[in-house]
Amino acid sequence: MRTLLFLMALLMLGCSATPTSSLYQKLGGAQGVDAIVYELIVNIARDERVIDRFKGVDIERFRTGLVNYICSVSGGGCEYTGESMQVVHAGHQYTDTEFNAIVDNLIKAMDRRNVPTRTQNSLLARLAPDYQNVVYQ
Ligand code: HEM
Repeated sequence: MRTLLFLMALLMLGCSATPTSSLYQKLGGAQGVDAIVYELIVNIARDERVIDRFKGVDIERFRTGLVNYICSVSGGGCEYTGESMQVVHAGHQYTDTEFNAIVDNLIKAMDRRNVPTRTQNSLLARLAPDYQNVVYQ
């Protein structure tokens, strides 16, 4: 009987200690997100479709802003403290094609880090609403 009670207690503990893992965790946590953003920047740097848009940009600031933003939208517990997506991208008239190029580079970065397609799609779904604040502003 004591063994049974012990096992039941263990089971209950196990249940409460395993919440469904956040998208942030599925992306590999802090290390995973850092690596994805690093690969994304490498891809942007090689991409003639968008590289001119990043001339003169403080890339370290861009990197930390993006890491923080992805952490906040994926449930990693960070609070994004930068300007809104609308303010950051305003005045540049970024096009549909450029938006798609950034998404393409993000997908390639996640592929490179072996992020499963389902997890990739979850992140893309959380970034998709930004489209209206980034393009043609
Ligand atoms: C899903 C689409 C996009 C998301 C989620 C996104 C997100 C971000 C974030 C979080 C930052 C950093 C803000 C900060 O903390 O300072 C940023 C900066 C920037 N983004 Fe985007 N972005 C997107 C699309 C684009 C596109 C399509 C372009 C142009 C091709 C672009 C160009 C830039 C540039 C140039 C900066 C640096 C701004 C500066 O520091 O002066 N972004 N973006």
